Amino acid sequence: MADLRINLAGIVSPNPFWLASAPPTNTGYQVQRAFEAGWGGAVWKTLGDPIINTSSRFAAIHFNGQRVAGFNNIELITDRPLEINLKEIYETKKRFPNHAIVVSLMVEPNREKWHEIVKKVEAVGVDGLELNFGCPHGMAERGMGAASGQQPDLVEVQTMWVKEAATTPVIVKLTPNITDITSTAKAAVRGGADAISLINTINSLAGVDIDSWNTIPHVGGKGSHGGYCGPAVKPIALHMVADCARNPEVGVPISGIGGISNWRDAVEFMLMGATGVQVCTAAMHHGFRIVEDMIDGLNNYLDEKGLASVTELIGKSVPRYSDWGNLDLNYAVVARIDTDTCINCNKCHIACEDTSHQCIDMLTDDQGQSYLQVREEDCVGCNLCAIVCPVDGAISMIEVSGNDAPMTWNERQEAIGKLSEGEDSTKKEAV
Ligand SMILES: Cc1cc2nc3c(=O)[nH]c(=O)nc-3n(C[C@H](O)[C@H](O)[C@H](O)COP(=O)(O)O)c2cc1C
Ligand code: SF4
Ligand code: SF4
Repeated sequence: MADLRINLAGIVSPNPFWLASAPPTNTGYQVQRAFEAGWGGAVWKTLGDPIINTSSRFAAIHFNGQRVAGFNNIELITDRPLEINLKEIYETKKRFPNHAIVVSLMVEPNREKWHEIVKKVEAVGVDGLELNFGCPHGMAERGMGAASGQQPDLVEVQTMWVKEAATTPVIVKLTPNITDITSTAKAAVRGGADAISLINTINSLAGVDIDSWNTIPHVGGKGSHGGYCGPAVKPIALHMVADCARNPEVGVPISGIGGISNWRDAVEFMLMGATGVQVCTAAMHHGFRIVEDMIDGLNNYLDEKGLASVTELIGKSVPRYSDWGNLDLNYAVVARIDTDTCINCNKCHIACEDTSHQCIDMLTDDQGQSYLQVREEDCVGCNLCAIVCPVDGAISMIEVSGNDAPMTWNERQEAIGKLSEGEDSTKKEAV
């Protein structure tokens, strides 16, 4: 069995699976039950000045039979008194000294306020702090959460204020509701962040009830934008984690969050640069015990790969993620149909004919049976037919790169530039 322990900027945890700051980490009772179930760490539900929550507050997107493909909420930070939370954090840490307890914080952009809450929270013995610069609703209207998190200067200065008072590692949790997440990641690092976590929830409206015309969810007939999370946001979160991981100006450990539901998702985030992961929606959907499968699956995977420690995964795929201009324009694949496994549903033919490159021919064999064949010379290797095919293995994408040497768009532009300098238009056309 591999070693599952991680060390995120000095915060040590028995495995990489943490609960994210959210309803599952609202009380000591819940966090202690989560640790008993096997979670390695928990980020306590955000503490700050007490707020009033609305009823109702959650909604979900069920897509084609999959319940909770996406999850939407208009909940705010904790609505429980600070003193009670602090007492429960103390008790939980005492019972589980080897588990990671990080406490999420959100106060107004005010130096004294940050110093005050940091000191109070650290006094009860936490392993680290997470600054919530991500909550997109309710708190943002008060200048906190995403309102702070969307402005790099506010991220930087507030991180700095926290670092002035903090003795434990400081993680800055970033909002995805921004054009370039690396700009706020870099600001957090300039402010002294020991690590970053991402993503918080994405601005969203879950739906509209077409009978009552109310928003979903609604509070007495009125709705407001909420935060979207769950499996649907995973690709967005993964990209943002990867973008931070490959940016040398970020350069601090990353706690990956967003749509992580199983050990495979966790492996993907770690390969893309996360040191560990946090989970909210999957725990809300299926309960704390999903962590058992996560631990088993991760252990088996590491054994199969011959890896002694989960930390060996961190960042392994980052060098394979780049800008479009660095992709080889001479690399080519084509679709190939295996007529033995094909069930002749025709979905690939329709997809290619209607919305791709019209290169799957319907032919008839000696026995008068119809079959499909890709005209490889016209196939652009877009993958669409393989995506829509309901039968695993019926369509394979085969590499057919020719004799041309690899050439990226950037290299091509550079070559054209050099030829232009020499004003040799004949050669220019050849490129
Ligand atoms: C109901 C709900 C409440 C949340 N409350 C907080 C919060 O208080 N502080 C915080 O930093 N993030 C909060 N989040 C965001 C989660 O911590 C997490 O970043 C997000 O849900 C993405 O992870 P997931 O796809 O695993 O749910 C909340 C999420 C949900 C669904
Ligand atoms: S890969 Fe694209 S272009 Fe090629 S056969 Fe499939 S759908 Fe058509
Ligand atoms: S979509 Fe798949 S199963 Fe259906 S006809 Fe095409 S190859 Fe065969």
